[in-house]
Amino acid sequence: MNAAAVRVPSGASVSRDPASGNPASDDQAFGGHVPVLRDEMLAALAPRDGGIYLDATFGGGGYAEAILSAAACTLFAIDRDPDALARGAALAARFPGRLHLLGGRFGDVLAAALAPDGWLATHGVHALDGVVFDFGVSSFQIDDPARGFSFRADGPLDMRMDRGADPASPTAADLVNRLPERDLADLLHELGEERAARRIARAIVAARAIAPIETTARLAGIVRAVLPPDRSGIDPATRSFQALRIRVNDELGEIARGLAAAAALLAPGGRLVAVAFHSLEDRLVKRFMIEAAGRAPAPSRHDPRGLLARTPPRFRLCGAPLLRPGAAETAANPRARSGRLRAMERLAAPDPVLPPEESAP
Ligand SMILES: C[S@@+](CC[C@H](N)C(=O)[O-])C[C@H]1O[C@@H](n2cnc3c(N)ncnc32)[C@H](O)[C@@H]1O
Repeated sequence: MNAAAVRVPSGASVSRDPASGNPASDDQAFGGHVPVLRDEMLAALAPRDGGIYLDATFGGGGYAEAILSAAACTLFAIDRDPDALARGAALAARFPGRLHLLGGRFGDVLAAALAPDGWLATHGVHALDGVVFDFGVSSFQIDDPARGFSFRADGPLDMRMDRGADPASPTAADLVNRLPERDLADLLHELGEERAARRIARAIVAARAIAPIETTARLAGIVRAVLPPDRSGIDPATRSFQALRIRVNDELGEIARGLAAAAALLAPGGRLVAVAFHSLEDRLVKRFMIEAAGRAPAPSRHDPRGLLARTPPRFRLCGAPLLRPGAAETAANPRARSGRLRAMERLAAPDPVLPPEESAP
């Protein structure tokens, strides 16, 4: 496991395109905007002196810097992008001994945390006081054409957040050039919520028969030829690029694994805070938190799950079920509009241990 220190250029922040959930790809992203919902994240996490926290998506370090500045706490921070870790060196230097950077996917890193030789145990830590997730890609990633996330600048059709550290992970070019037309259409429909998925998939298959699709500009051109711009101002390629990015990085699988592992690491009173940027992410967070807090509707009496003992809730939802950026943040940064924050807190009472005869099978 990598442990590196990380740096945030002063004034750098991550803002998002409301339509795509992607960070803004123009200069505004570097113009000193605060990260999306940063104050709300801090209020929900409520870091305290002596606490031990984890930022599962370090990115540009905006949240990390806010947490470290808010309390004399220790922060572990994860990113799967080696560039993000490398940028963090200066932030770690500003907070000596308080910021520990970890490379890898948060799903894997969190799941491995408590192993006898895991990173928490080696730091003598057995539970966390708070975990924060800020899903998606950073402006550092989307603004670099060489990373292949952006349809606004030409570059290789890559989109791997980890720069290929996982050899099993396909590039976006692998997907568009190899997937059967039907699978491609399903992917665009399910992960991009793209209504024209079948037509776009057909156009991609026709184009790749002429020559492999290797660049972001070529793919964007193929999509735009199918879907001319409408009055929304949203680039027609937005949803297709979102779908490919989510699939290349298995983002939804990571969210499901990461939330479960993070919740298991929280000490009583510990908070889990998640910021999502599109409905697919937010749906996972919402369902997870509602179930953890015992707020999911009971199965009908005809559903066999109703026969199983329901485990008592281990969490409570914090504050409003969903926080959106306020008018001031949206006015200052229209790209923040799609941010959605949810938070829950681990209950202080230990899980009641049911006698064996009462335990669910
Ligand atoms: C939106 S940015 C976070 C921005 C950060 N909160 C800030 O204030 O600067 C998301 C970051 O999470 C990282 N990331 C996304 N999915 C990840 C995963 N499954 N494991 C580890 N890092 C991930 C990305 O590489 C990216 O750097």
